[in-house]
Amino acid sequence: MIGADVATVRPAARLRGELRLPGDKSISHRALIFATLAAGESRISGAGDGADVRSTAGIMRALGARVEHEGEGEGAAERGGAPGRGRNVAYRIDSPGADGLHSPDAVLDCGNSGTSLRLTAGMLAGLPLTAVLDGDDSLRRRPVARIIEPLRRMGAELHARDNDSLPPLTVVGHTPLQAADITTQVPSAQVKSAILLAGLRADGRTTVREGVATRDHTERMLRARGVRVDRVVEPGGGVAWSVEGGRAVQAIDQRVPGDVSAAAFWLVAGSIHPDAEFTLREVGVNPTRRAIIDLLRTMGADIDERPADGAPPALADRDGDAGEPMADLVVRSADLRAIDLGPDDVAAAIDEIPVLCLAAARARGTTTIRGAGELRHKESDRIAGIVAGLVAMGVRVEVDGDDLRIHGGTALRGAATDSLDDHRLAMTFAIAGLVATDPMTIERPGSAAVSYPGFLGDLEGVRA
Ligand code: S3P
Repeated sequence: MIGADVATVRPAARLRGELRLPGDKSISHRALIFATLAAGESRISGAGDGADVRSTAGIMRALGARVEHEGEGEGAAERGGAPGRGRNVAYRIDSPGADGLHSPDAVLDCGNSGTSLRLTAGMLAGLPLTAVLDGDDSLRRRPVARIIEPLRRMGAELHARDNDSLPPLTVVGHTPLQAADITTQVPSAQVKSAILLAGLRADGRTTVREGVATRDHTERMLRARGVRVDRVVEPGGGVAWSVEGGRAVQAIDQRVPGDVSAAAFWLVAGSIHPDAEFTLREVGVNPTRRAIIDLLRTMGADIDERPADGAPPALADRDGDAGEPMADLVVRSADLRAIDLGPDDVAAAIDEIPVLCLAAARARGTTTIRGAGELRHKESDRIAGIVAGLVAMGVRVEVDGDDLRIHGGTALRGAATDSLDDHRLAMTFAIAGLVATDPMTIERPGSAAVSYPGFLGDLEGVRA
């Protein structure tokens, strides 16, 4: 039963389903931003239609691009949703290009979306316009010094609340910026992408060095749009990415794969439930995003990966995939065992760690997760949130600074859990409800729509 502020999820005897996930959130944001930087018409199919991607679409409109929905969102009709409010949407963007954008009339509303805020800041830093970026209460608690500092080194002018630490964030664009060689202080694709976007408007060659590799959608998608992006693996295993300033982003059409971070909920549900099988169609399997698949397999998960029907091969800019490979995944019930994760695994599966903690709670043995501190800076403090939820379900969890130890193998009790208005916690606790001994309640479950509109409907639909 799903109410406005509390959902109750009852245990399921059997789970079956064939699911098409929302379009990948990270790729959808970037596709909208790059289409706005490119002069002319771009089409995006299969974009996620969650609240976060809608925030970016609204921002791009406010900057002067025409961003239109083409047709209704896929899946809207069968869920009885309003037209255009499906999980996926096709966009047609007609933009004057980077040099034709204008200062927005009002504050740019990023809603709950850190990606909208940080990537837009990088995009605007080298354009001759002024904008204020703001969002909801959660976004106002998320750090922005991590982008202000590197962008200032390039000559950008940014100001933020509380000694330049928190949104709202004001960007007073300066053009051109100076190229820089920057080593990121935290593993963050958002920070890396903000710097590369600013680098497109800089005089010379901008290099970003990351000690721990993060998702590379910006780099792949820029290449597909005619921008040369160089990659060098550094001696310690880190990666350096460079772009030359002054290169125009070209308009292209792109098809967005299903979101592997959304697929993660079904991969875990299918693995920890004793009688489950799901087929997940056209899921993005970019090597820098697929860690959740490989980590679950290491834990003993039964996940088959098959070429998605008609999906293009994983080559840059081939048949509209812009270098973003996809596959169909089939997951079946398995007997999981514990795993040890280090900081590199945390960076690679940053959005999937909460649901991976749930898998660990059902796995045999004790799972350790080291270096998970970045989880405290997401839509909520996800370490506090997941620990509170698991403990309420009867799981023994120890927290030592940024490290977690989850003692697995006990049956999960139904409990009263709080999503903290965080989409990934809401969905993790709802999945736990399917395998618990008695009903689970989740406060503020509607936050799921930030990345996965239709999630609660799918949750009911998979009960076989
Ligand atoms: C994202 C990067 C990650 C991730 C977020 C989306 C992106 O954030 O948590 O959901 O699209 O670049 P960080 O790079 O800041 O860790």
